[in-house]
Amino acid sequence: METPKPPAQLVGTNDFVVVANRLPVDQSVSPEGAITWSPSPGGLVTALSPVLEKHRGCWVGWPGTTEQAPEPFRTDSGVLLHPVTLTAEDFENFYEGFSNATLWPLYHDLIVPPQYHRQWWEAYREVNEKFARETASVAAEGATVWVQDYQLQLVPGILRQIRPDLTIGFFLHIPFPAPDLFRQLPWREEIVRGVLGSDVIGFHLESNARNFIHVVEHVSGLEVAGQVGVRQAGAKVQASDGRWVHVGAFPISIDPTPFLNQQVDVAKIRAELGNPRVLILGVDRLDYTKGILQRLHAIEEMHELGALEPDTLFLQIATPSRERIDHYQATRAEVEQAVGRINGRFGQIGRPVVSYHHTSLPKWRLVELYSAADVMLVTPFKDGMNLVAKEYVACHGDGSGALVLSEFAGAAEELAQAYLCNPFDVESIKRQLQHSTKALAQDPDSARARMRQLHTQVVDHDVNVWANAFLHALKDSENM
Ligand code: ADP
Ligand code: F6P
Repeated sequence: METPKPPAQLVGTNDFVVVANRLPVDQSVSPEGAITWSPSPGGLVTALSPVLEKHRGCWVGWPGTTEQAPEPFRTDSGVLLHPVTLTAEDFENFYEGFSNATLWPLYHDLIVPPQYHRQWWEAYREVNEKFARETASVAAEGATVWVQDYQLQLVPGILRQIRPDLTIGFFLHIPFPAPDLFRQLPWREEIVRGVLGSDVIGFHLESNARNFIHVVEHVSGLEVAGQVGVRQAGAKVQASDGRWVHVGAFPISIDPTPFLNQQVDVAKIRAELGNPRVLILGVDRLDYTKGILQRLHAIEEMHELGALEPDTLFLQIATPSRERIDHYQATRAEVEQAVGRINGRFGQIGRPVVSYHHTSLPKWRLVELYSAADVMLVTPFKDGMNLVAKEYVACHGDGSGALVLSEFAGAAEELAQAYLCNPFDVESIKRQLQHSTKALAQDPDSARARMRQLHTQVVDHDVNVWANAFLHALKDSENM
């Protein structure tokens, strides 16, 4: 059967379009009205930016303010940015509400209770329609459209209705929860139908993909076939319109290039930090999923026990994130209180034991800190992947350093040579911190061998491997 032609006013000129809640840059407007742009936070932007640059594609997304969005423009690296305006109401109900106070905690295993409000759901539906319309207006006939993440799960279904000529992929950057958790969602059927508008659906891990398959089979009663596999869409689901939708696990990664073989003057960076004997580093968005408070508790208890070398510094860089949402405010207050308490108890005048910075940093500065750190502490309660862990490993091709990593980060599947810990068990964080610092001091050959294995894994499975595997699966789906 021939695919019907889309109405002319709904067609653009771009053959490859990515649609994500955020553009790769955030707009700020000064009181004088001057517009400036800064990099947007988060792993999605880190991973997708090099992919879009390679394809010289079009990126549809929100510029991070509730001002009227500017006209589309091309970046220096050739990506066409197509801004979508979110009103103050959209921001409150769609972004802070349904996306980040309903879906985010539900999909991260209820670390805080999700809130279900019909008004937020209405806003989610309307904003997804807005994104779908904008995407339809820029996509050429027969284009490939790649929809990203939990904020836009209805976009594939809406797009398929208005533009049946498109090939549509969907990738979820956060975990997909166990079926019993997902079943809580009052709008679960609509979300499943929305995502099934795609030709291929990708998750980070096989377990995420299996959770989804279980939901469509047992909650939505759809037929499923095939097996979930890694870097291939081996499983399939028959949507209610009869189409087969392919599903697979595609673990996301980084472009390691900016992190490899950097000539960082580590001695200088450590001198700036007061020449600590051991430097432990944390780098995260300030999010309750990241377990920042728990790692502070581990550090505090180790100081109590005298289990850390004197002159150990814990440096925590925390990017401001979702700052008006209650649980984010509470997390920030708890973290900052703990930092003050620990420094008050164990620091000396002019020599804190925790150096905490609530800020975003440029990539080159992160490279310096990653390179200088003896131990990277990554302790999320739940994380889709965690690219910070991969960035640290990419900086340590010489085998130096050690990674303490939560077993609940998606990255733990590929980075099994890390010092894996259970962030719900402070003893486990302490134990692995101790093992890692001890290995660096007493068994450097084995510590080096572990880090080299991790490094090879990250370099061999970079973001191009991720994007190519997904886009090949999408291409293959056109011929099925
Ligand atoms: P998430 O997507 O949940 O924020 P990831 O670890 O997957 O978590 O990705 C975070 C990305 O944001 C990484 O590329 C990291 O370099 C970047 N990042 C995190 N914290 C900071 C910071 N303080 N300043 C600049 N970039 C940061
Ligand atoms: O990777 C998860 C993610 O939520 C992305 O979707 C998002 O871009 C990033 O983290 C940062 O969150 P936000 O866009 O809410 O600041």
